[in-house]
Amino acid sequence: MSTGGRPRVLVMHPILDPGPAILAEAAEVMAYPADRPLDEASIRRAAEGCVGIVSQLMDPIRDTVLSTPGLRCVSNVAVGFDNIDIAAATARKVMVTNTPGVLDDATADFAFTLLMAAARRVAEADAFTRAGHFHGWAIDMMLGQDVFGATLGIIGIGRIGRGVAHRAKGFNMRVLYYDPQPLPREAEEQLGATRVDLNRLIAESDFISVHVPLTQETLHLITTPQFNAMKRNAILVNTSRGAVVDEAALVEALNAKKLAGAGLDVYEREPAVHPHLIPMPNVVLAPHIASATVRTRSEMSAMAARNMATAVRGGRPPNLVNPEVKR
Ligand code: GLV
Repeated sequence: MSTGGRPRVLVMHPILDPGPAILAEAAEVMAYPADRPLDEASIRRAAEGCVGIVSQLMDPIRDTVLSTPGLRCVSNVAVGFDNIDIAAATARKVMVTNTPGVLDDATADFAFTLLMAAARRVAEADAFTRAGHFHGWAIDMMLGQDVFGATLGIIGIGRIGRGVAHRAKGFNMRVLYYDPQPLPREAEEQLGATRVDLNRLIAESDFISVHVPLTQETLHLITTPQFNAMKRNAILVNTSRGAVVDEAALVEALNAKKLAGAGLDVYEREPAVHPHLIPMPNVVLAPHIASATVRTRSEMSAMAARNMATAVRGGRPPNLVNPEVKR
């Protein structure tokens, strides 16, 4: 739909260069007012008259929004799209696109960053040193976990999971993975990764890194029975979606010393962080920044803008997550 000729696209939050220029070539760009709440009714009002919405992962794009007359495409500036009701979009013939691939290395790097930081107590050590508590070397000060040669369990061996396995080779780690979809034999050999079931991965890993999308099947995939089965020295790393891990069960397990620590970039109710995690020195907390490098966020912005521009021009966007809408 358009008013006075040019199709309109609603951009929920500013994106990085070169995204805005790519969008402006294809459409009249409407910015969502920064002070307006991100509820469905408000988004729906703002989307009236727009053929497209460029959304981000905090935007709830469900049927109320998807039923906007004339809406053709929602371009999510993220690889995950659990903020969008895909079934409703497909039923309404609204194309949904994401930004796969460009953030794999940045995210795998950050999963490893959290793993290392939690293993070697980097956040705690930094706070300790800044607070002026370093009064001399001590043989038992800030003892952590060995990473080199340890066992890493990767839950979800998609592009990012494989990136983590690749990095683990450099640390001579034994890599186990759990995924309903096995890797081809050559990829397993190349990565030195062994497929196991979830129970075995949980029981044998010193580090567990989660790389699955949030779906009905993966909601609370890691909860009390899994924490009970972990090694007491285990460290859990989550850079996927918060709700894949049962946060309340994680807090209980950490309190009960069922595992040694965690490195978390994502939370069940973002931007809220479970209040009991905040004072825990053995937990490294980050504000959902795994893909936050200059290059990656700029490539995500460009990719999302290209997806939208293609849809606005009547084409089939390259990263369509519901291809049944446009064959
Ligand atoms: C970030 O979490 C993404 O899904 O891109």
